[in-house]
Amino acid sequence: MLLASGMCASIVMMLALVPAGGHIVTTTDCYRKTRMFIENFLPKMGIKATVIDPADIEGLKSALNENNVTLFFTESPTNPFLRCVDIKLVTELCHEKGTLVCIDGTFASPLNQKALALGADLVVHSMTKFIGGHNDVLGGCISGSQKLISVIRNMHHILGGTLNPNAAYLMIRGMKTLHLRVQQQNTTAMRMAEVLEAHPKVKCVYYPGLPSHPEHELAKKQMTGFGGVVSFEIDGDLNTTIKFVDALKIAYIAPSFGGCESIVDQPAIMSYWDLSQSERLKYGIKDNLIRFSFGVEDFEDLKADILQALEAI
Ligand SMILES: *Cc1c(COP(=O)(O)O)cnc(C)c1O
Ligand SMILES: *[C@@H]1O[C@H](CO)[C@@H](O)[C@H](O)[C@H]1NC(C)=O
Ligand SMILES: *[C@@H]1O[C@H](CO)[C@@H](O)[C@H](O)[C@H]1NC(C)=O
Ligand SMILES: *[C@@H]1O[C@H](CO)[C@@H](O)[C@H](O)[C@H]1NC(C)=O
Repeated sequence: MLLASGMCASIVMMLALVPAGGHIVTTTDCYRKTRMFIENFLPKMGIKATVIDPADIEGLKSALNENNVTLFFTESPTNPFLRCVDIKLVTELCHEKGTLVCIDGTFASPLNQKALALGADLVVHSMTKFIGGHNDVLGGCISGSQKLISVIRNMHHILGGTLNPNAAYLMIRGMKTLHLRVQQQNTTAMRMAEVLEAHPKVKCVYYPGLPSHPEHELAKKQMTGFGGVVSFEIDGDLNTTIKFVDALKIAYIAPSFGGCESIVDQPAIMSYWDLSQSERLKYGIKDNLIRFSFGVEDFEDLKADILQALEAI
């Protein structure tokens, strides 16, 4: 089922499936607007959320035991730390209790991870990212059984948020090169993650393809590639990090990812600009955090650009 945006897809899915007064489980690291909907709007319908760490299986078990949980909804990999959830395991646990599992697979793209095959009931993608692939169109999609999609479709017809015909055309066009783009992005991101991890001016790198990632073994099992987004922390403060971003010549400074053009995002002053430093830190967003989406540019050009920007700080 196609919708006007990724947010439209997640919200329609939750509104359609979770009854008033119901309970959902979600994870800590998360696309900010999804978290805002869960924290600020679901309570208006009496819907409560238990928020667990992506690896906290015991937390999931007790949430399932203590509440009548309709839905477990999580990203995998998550934003921006690319944490991975054991989709097969959580699905088994949830299904024992009659709880539905929906995975937001946007960061993986549909090529690197097949959550339905791993057991999930539903998969949501922001098509704005890898599927559209050109940083020029918004869209969202939901995949699952006809039974569940029919329920969601009824809600979608009430809420609106239809994918417009020109956007649909751009999605079809984008998808023709999805496998080529993702292959290149997989490779570039993996190689750059290694370069960054070895660099003295980089404190820390978050990428599921790296052995240092907490879910590396799991990611190897449930993904065929680790995607085009790498998050990392510069060895420096807010201003040093701003200097690094401004010194880059190839990447655009923008909040999206997954397209042909590389994009760089400093969450502290972009997606989390309205929060104070201590409020941001509650979500683990440090001043020196960078989320880098590798596009399809030449690897050597991207590497040279990032290295010169690190030299400049
Ligand atoms: C971008 C994104 C969304 C929202 O998608 P839009 O198409 O921008 O509305 C939801 N979830 C994740 C993980 C995303 O990256
Ligand atoms: C649990 O919630 C579902 C709706 O998600 C409802 O159909 C069911 O009756 C509830 N079960 C209990 C024991 O409250
Ligand atoms: C992503 O890249 C990895 C490693 O290069 C590769 O094994 C995998 O098949 C790629 N996936 C796609 C869809 O290209
Ligand atoms: C960062 O730069 C701004 C603008 O140049 C300046 O006002 C501020 O004091 C700097 N902060 C630190 C911690 O250096």
